[in-house]
Amino acid sequence: MKLRRGNINDLRELASIESICFPPEQAAGLEQFRRRLEKYPQHFLVLCDSDGKIISFINGFVTDIPDLTDEMYEKADMHKENGSWQMIFGLNTLPEYRRRGHAQTLMNEFLSIARSEGRRGAVLTCKESLIGFYERFGFVNEGVSEGSVIGGVKWYQMRRSF
Ligand SMILES: CC(C)(COP(=O)(O)OP(=O)(O)OC[C@H]1O[C@@H](n2cnc3c(N)ncnc32)[C@H](O)[C@@H]1OP(=O)(O)O)[C@@H](O)C(=O)NCCC(=O)NCCS
Repeated sequence: MKLRRGNINDLRELASIESICFPPEQAAGLEQFRRRLEKYPQHFLVLCDSDGKIISFINGFVTDIPDLTDEMYEKADMHKENGSWQMIFGLNTLPEYRRRGHAQTLMNEFLSIARSEGRRGAVLTCKESLIGFYERFGFVNEGVSEGSVIGGVKWYQMRRSF
């Protein structure tokens, strides 16, 4: 396994993994990933197998805005490199590689980088079923998100303060 930052050459592979991991109304599409990878590739972490195939990844931009909203997914230009909060827009592991600690590895590294960069913390939204999963990393549930309603799902905002 190799952990590295993302880059624009990962575009198609990442969009494909996202489409496998999320239903279409919740998944970020190719053009959305293109804008993100052009604007903040350094805020993508990918985990590859020995053949270089990506099996898991995490991404999100940085901002001074403390709460996550759906427009952030679309608008890569809102990224502010010296912002306070590391947002997490997606954490995906290909189904056949799940339950082996890959997402955990990525999350721990993503948080460690955010902390070393002097951020105040990290923010994400998730479905109710994953609240316990994120609590393990020190995220605190702030209740149903007002800013994110994508896919008609009830999203919970969670924050890990450093
Ligand atoms: C959620 C997801 C990223 C987890 O990936 P993963 O690589 O299987 O996670 P890990 O193996 O690192 O899991 C770490 C721990 O969390 C647990 N865990 C993993 N998925 C879980 C889930 N869906 N619900 C509850 N606990 C879970 C694992 O059992 C593991 O605990 P263990 O070490 O005691 O066995 C993956 O299931 C996925 O891509 N899901 C679809 C996309 C998605 O919903 N992403 C989250 C967006 S909010």
